[in-house]
Amino acid sequence: MKSQIGVIGLGVMGKSLAKNLLSRDFLVSGFSRRYEVTKQVDSEVAKNFQACETLKDFIASLEMPRKIILMVPAGDAVDVLCEEIVGMLDKGDIIMDCGNSFYKDTIRRYKSLQDKGIHYFGVGVSGGEKGALLGPSIMPGGDATVYPMIAPFLEKIAAQKDGQACCAYMGPSGAGHYVKMVHNGIEYADMQLIAEVYLFFKYVMKLSNKEMAKIFEDWIDTEVGSYLIEITASILKEKDPKTPHDLVDMIVDKASQKGTGKWTLIEGAELAQDVSIIQVAVGNRIISNFTKERTAFTRHFKGTPKLNISVPTPSISEIKDAYYIGKLVSYAQGFSLMAEASKQFDWNLNLSSIASIFRAGCIIQAKLLETLKDLFEKEPHLNNFLLSDSILPLVSSNINSLRQMNLASTLEGIPNPALSSALVYLDQLKSVSLGANLIQAQRDFFGAHTFERIDQDGSVHHEWNNE
Ligand code: 6PG
Repeated sequence: MKSQIGVIGLGVMGKSLAKNLLSRDFLVSGFSRRYEVTKQVDSEVAKNFQACETLKDFIASLEMPRKIILMVPAGDAVDVLCEEIVGMLDKGDIIMDCGNSFYKDTIRRYKSLQDKGIHYFGVGVSGGEKGALLGPSIMPGGDATVYPMIAPFLEKIAAQKDGQACCAYMGPSGAGHYVKMVHNGIEYADMQLIAEVYLFFKYVMKLSNKEMAKIFEDWIDTEVGSYLIEITASILKEKDPKTPHDLVDMIVDKASQKGTGKWTLIEGAELAQDVSIIQVAVGNRIISNFTKERTAFTRHFKGTPKLNISVPTPSISEIKDAYYIGKLVSYAQGFSLMAEASKQFDWNLNLSSIASIFRAGCIIQAKLLETLKDLFEKEPHLNNFLLSDSILPLVSSNINSLRQMNLASTLEGIPNPALSSALVYLDQLKSVSLGANLIQAQRDFFGAHTFERIDQDGSVHHEWNNE
């Protein structure tokens, strides 16, 4: 019997997706470059799985039109595979790239395969190993007319929230991977914000991991509640199996990254959108790897006297408010980027639907997304949701908690780039003057770049003294 769908790449994520499909009673074929990996998956599943030794066998095992999931590392591996299988496919077959591919690569692959009659979907999948196995959040982008052929599979394996699948058609080719990229940008930002709250608890308030875990646990069912807050509470309680210490204290202070956060900030710059929190989150991961420099600076600044100024330490509830504002700003920056991409690329992204599928399965799932789903349903073209009637009062009533937390951190010399970037962003937006008049004058002075006057329309150049 032919399989209804096939998975190429049976690493952690591919294997989990294949098992998820099998658990929904689909007939699944699997292929990995290493046959022993494919056989291992076969030995772990009860039935309905065809372990294919060659790509030729794999392709032949699938019913037509073929539906093929690629779960291989983003980059060259995707191109190599596409090239390898395209000759074996028939017109109308569908390839779904479920890895974290760069959206421009997806658009390029879509176009080149379209010429050959093959449908190509860039599918964002979020939720890590557990999500892939039990129900991820899924963001498919490709031909709208072809989507109904893959929807029954993707919507069945996706996480479910209030009876709705956390999977929805995003838009043409690159749209799915674009949304996934921004999801990851927000993921970086929120992780950084939580790390800064942790630093504040640890070094300003001198709380133990156990005390912090309790606070984060208490936050789970509040407006700041999220999957990331939940796992942070669990992480802080985890004991090291090798020593009497907490595991978090045994982990080297050096963060890695695979690139999706960096893409988001580059894309922000390309589309003239401010994604400053995502930028500093990427920057902090980079600086964390400057081991030599950090050691030298630490040694040099040891014992530097503190400023003789004190600010009251914010209460736990004020810290929560400050974190919430930071979280709002990071989601706002991400959603504004998607709104702008939608306009510039004519994608017609549905921000309410995006918020809806982010409510479960994915890494940034959070209480806030329920609010955003409703908000964008009412106001689909909101460019910056911080300006909406329901969010703006929250921001204005809590901004002083954010300011106080930033002051206290600054005085202690505790770096909090994301929380301070959130405050700077809000201060920038609410400032009458940003000094841009002076910058325009400087540009005109040295380069005759012209400027606009406050009392007339159009651009003018001034013959500056000493020019
Ligand atoms: C997800 C995650 C996932 C990502 C990892 C690692 O949504 O499931 O975003 O896709 O690859 O979180 O990302 P970094 O290595 O860049 O931190």
